[in-house]
Amino acid sequence: MSNKRISLTRYLVEQQRVDGHIPSQLRLLLEVVARACKSISQAVNKGDLGGVLGAATTENVQGEMQKQLDIIANEVLIEANEWGGHLAAMASEEMDSIYVVPNRYPQGEYLLLFDPLDGSSNIDVNVSIGTIFSVLKKPEGSAGVSEQDFLQPGAQQVAAGYCVYGPQTTLVLTVGDGVAMFTLDREQGSFVLTKENVQIPPDTKEFAINMSNMRHWDAPVKRYVDECLAGQEGPRGKDFNMRWVASMVADVHRILTRGGVFLYPWDKREPEKPGKLRLMYEANPMGWLVEQAGGAATNGKQRILDIQPGKLHERVSVVLGSKNEVERVTSYHTGL
Ligand code: AHG
Ligand code: MN
Ligand code: MN
Repeated sequence: MSNKRISLTRYLVEQQRVDGHIPSQLRLLLEVVARACKSISQAVNKGDLGGVLGAATTENVQGEMQKQLDIIANEVLIEANEWGGHLAAMASEEMDSIYVVPNRYPQGEYLLLFDPLDGSSNIDVNVSIGTIFSVLKKPEGSAGVSEQDFLQPGAQQVAAGYCVYGPQTTLVLTVGDGVAMFTLDREQGSFVLTKENVQIPPDTKEFAINMSNMRHWDAPVKRYVDECLAGQEGPRGKDFNMRWVASMVADVHRILTRGGVFLYPWDKREPEKPGKLRLMYEANPMGWLVEQAGGAATNGKQRILDIQPGKLHERVSVVLGSKNEVERVTSYHTGL
């Protein structure tokens, strides 16, 4: 990378102009999402001073108690995106059904999906949290817009990313041409390109899983983690380290930065649910970013991006990160 500071705006203009990766409407969409993330970052930074911490009094569609910041972040993203003419509709982890762009604004051809605030349990304890987003194109020829239009496999995404609000605020993005990272320069108020062509090493000695659920896991997951824990004397012949932030954005950001494997598998606590994480707002965008950085993402059996969603708020089991490690976990499930 040259010494010149490249802003997100310039990066996107060049993607549009030189490489033809993104049409102008998609560029506008990504700029608007980044602007919304800046504003969420500000609210997060204020914390108690802004009166934004603590629980709300409402439950979301998944039956989880909402935090004030879940609701604030959701509103910021909707307000920022509804008027620009680039979107047909939005879907969010925090809304029961899709949000169609109101009639008073022009309708565009894109669909935006988001987890407005990921890592809600970390908000009040001042640990990294984030926003995750995914962009699809509305299928051609469909009149109006409906939930059905959103039910596309992750492989159809045209852009995906997240913004992590941690010691730094970092926006991470793919439009299908590798992964780029932008750090927020607070004095300038702009995201500046700080890493390009991010690559996840194929091997790792670090795994991320909520170990408190161990007794509920299925045999293949238990086998994998037991082998990691056995360390140098075990079948893997090396010692492993463990991390679990409980914010998927922060765990994935670590993996994109230095490798590792992340698992949130199906477990016996609620056997009828395929997993805890959400396919459309969490697994698909993160799965694509990880693949774009040379890693892999499966549900233990199948590539995440190939899963045909049956409903908007569908859940999924997730294994993602360093390629060889993900392939190992997957082979323990499939027996191949
Ligand atoms: P959200 O805050 O959007 O509901 O997502 C939380 C998710 C994910 O970020 C994290 O990896 C996981 O839940 C943590 O779950 P546990 O508390 O069960 O470890
Ligand atoms: Mn989340
Ligand atoms: Mn969330």
